[in-house]
Amino acid sequence: MSSSAPWAPDSWRRLPACQQPAYDDAEALAAAVAELERLPPLVTSWEVEALKGQLAEAAAGRAFLLQGGDCAESLDDCTSPAITAKLKILLQMSLVLVFGTRLRVVRVGRFAGQYAKPRTRDFEEVDGVRLPVYRGDLINRAGASAGERAADPRLLLRAYERAALTLNFIRALVAGGFADLHHPEYWDLDWVEHSPLASEYRRMVASLGESLRFMETLAGRAVAEMNRVDFFTSHEGLHLLYEQAQTRRVPHRQGWYDLTTHFPWIGMRTSDPDGAHVEFFRGVANPVAVKVGPATTPERLRRLIDLLHPDDEPGRLTLVHRFGAEQIEAALPPLLEAARRSGRTVLWCCDPMHGNTRTTPSGRKTRRFDDILTELERAFEIHERHGSLLGGVHFELTGENVTECTGGARGLSAADLERDYRSTVDPRLNYEQALEMAMRVARRAGRSR
Ligand code: PEP
Ligand code: CO
Repeated sequence: MSSSAPWAPDSWRRLPACQQPAYDDAEALAAAVAELERLPPLVTSWEVEALKGQLAEAAAGRAFLLQGGDCAESLDDCTSPAITAKLKILLQMSLVLVFGTRLRVVRVGRFAGQYAKPRTRDFEEVDGVRLPVYRGDLINRAGASAGERAADPRLLLRAYERAALTLNFIRALVAGGFADLHHPEYWDLDWVEHSPLASEYRRMVASLGESLRFMETLAGRAVAEMNRVDFFTSHEGLHLLYEQAQTRRVPHRQGWYDLTTHFPWIGMRTSDPDGAHVEFFRGVANPVAVKVGPATTPERLRRLIDLLHPDDEPGRLTLVHRFGAEQIEAALPPLLEAARRSGRTVLWCCDPMHGNTRTTPSGRKTRRFDDILTELERAFEIHERHGSLLGGVHFELTGENVTECTGGARGLSAADLERDYRSTVDPRLNYEQALEMAMRVARRAGRSR
């Protein structure tokens, strides 16, 4: 379909939609979708527009995007400790990045809706039984029984409600005294001593604390306002009936907004320019991101840019590249060139997680801290060399002390993964690894400015 064909919230239905679950009960599905259409949106158009403005700043080199959170949120993890821990790590990382880049940091969580996962296969064998794969809590459950793996339309509503509860708590924390967590006094820094860069990290944290105190003294009573921090939400826009149900026109604005989230992204597996996902997202007014990886040819990228970013609207399109430390050197430059030739401005963001997944001999999916860091460092270098700008980073992380990725200051080993591996899908950086990663990025980003 050409970009000039008429768009409607359901025009995607004319095209092949991959990664969509098969539901047994069409009536129950229709009822769940109808209810989602009636329920209020999770976010508002003015928040979406505010984020677009901030992403435009990042694309122009005047801000830096930090996007992070779980690979897959779970309905059961909608708890106060899990949510606060996620905000805390994102806030602390963002402060480290402000310090390193001297730029405003745009904070975007993979949260309040990151419930649907693309999968490579439709079925898997568990203990000799063939089961549909787990596709995220929006669709089915991770347990290894046929009942749990059946796609259940009621989960669309449960996930919507959990997203609303998550967002409600985040908004309340942000409006309250939460920003105190800015202060390094509240940071958990025991791990620093285990790093060869310990003295540099200590200096960074000390001067960060001093700058904060200095600003607060200057700002006096304006502190509460100054400390107010924004968080935006994002998730992979995978389940098109779910996204469509919350896509609306709003008073006094042009166009249609997908109000399940501020910032949906199109995953690598659903980024076919002739597919339903690109068709759906080309018509919404939100800022959108697309994952680009080893299968993205320059020609394909060019078509994606034409379809998703025809008007060069500032902040509209983010390209999240995810190649792996080994592949980025060869794969990224042709795409930078294709984007340059399009004549349009995009925000480039590096996801150093998804190209660096390995499986341990015992069958655990993991990622090595050093591979993640290497891909990031190479990304900065390659952008620099090609006169392009890396304007953001995208991580799978958690604020908790899980053991899913190896390495980092404490040198977590493959054996440590058995201790506290909780992710149902991809391995996340834990609190310490994430904070250390931010410090490494801050060091590197500071150099290139
Ligand atoms: C993800 O971000 O969890 C994901 C599945 O990424 P990608 O589409 O890049 O593989
Ligand atoms: Co993932």
